[in-house]
Amino acid sequence: MNYIKDNKIMFNFSYLPIVVALDFFNKKDILNFIDQINPTLCRLKIGINTFMLFGYRLIDLLHKRGFKIFLDLKFHDIPNTVLSSIEIAAKMGVWMVDIHAVSGKSVLLEARNVLDKFYGDVPLLISVTLLTSLNDHDLIDLGISFSTYNYTELLAKLSYDCGMDGVVCSGYEANNLKIKFGKKFKLIVPGIRCYNDSYNDQKRIINPIEAKEIGIDYIVIGRPIINSLNPLKKIKDILFSINN
Ligand code: C5P
Repeated sequence: MNYIKDNKIMFNFSYLPIVVALDFFNKKDILNFIDQINPTLCRLKIGINTFMLFGYRLIDLLHKRGFKIFLDLKFHDIPNTVLSSIEIAAKMGVWMVDIHAVSGKSVLLEARNVLDKFYGDVPLLISVTLLTSLNDHDLIDLGISFSTYNYTELLAKLSYDCGMDGVVCSGYEANNLKIKFGKKFKLIVPGIRCYNDSYNDQKRIINPIEAKEIGIDYIVIGRPIINSLNPLKKIKDILFSINN
């Protein structure tokens, strides 16, 4: 049942997978955007650019508005540096945080351990498999003889074995990973476009209905929502299309 709070309509969608990438370059645009939406519609992703511009203050502000935050800084460093960063993220109270799976087994295992010992709300610990901007040729340049599909599966298995809560992957590998690693292992998928959206620079895209059919847990959407003339309508249209 919908209800009114702070002069906004709050919704009760059973499948609430949208994570909006807050890829803005000034704070006024962020505030203008979040004034139009509310936490019953989506979660928010803060990437490296946005964090470099606005830092923890923005996270604090968004938390005060009730939003859950995916802090997408894709940590990739020596264990000591990653572990302290993960702990700081947990202390910030973010909902989800990520590490590059190629950081290796010891970083992933130790990060899990740090969060298991954390006193308070523990963020979901996610690893990034293979960046969707890389293709099979890029892997050859890196001396990796796997296809993107198989390399993603290998990194997802490492992540699963090390106790990650899930992985970031492209929609093209998601079905395989859901089958291999089960329902509980969360999949976070960028590169989502509706039929009438511009692809922008995304190449391997799927649409929200396909995401639902695969059982993807969270879909990351940036430009199609934040550049929309009516972001609230855009989000609601997607939610209604996948909640029927
Ligand atoms: O605007 P768009 O919907 O393409 O935004 C996708 C978001 O997901 C961006 O913030 C981008 O950095 C992020 N992302 C991605 N591909 C990955 C990992 C993250 O597009 N493999």
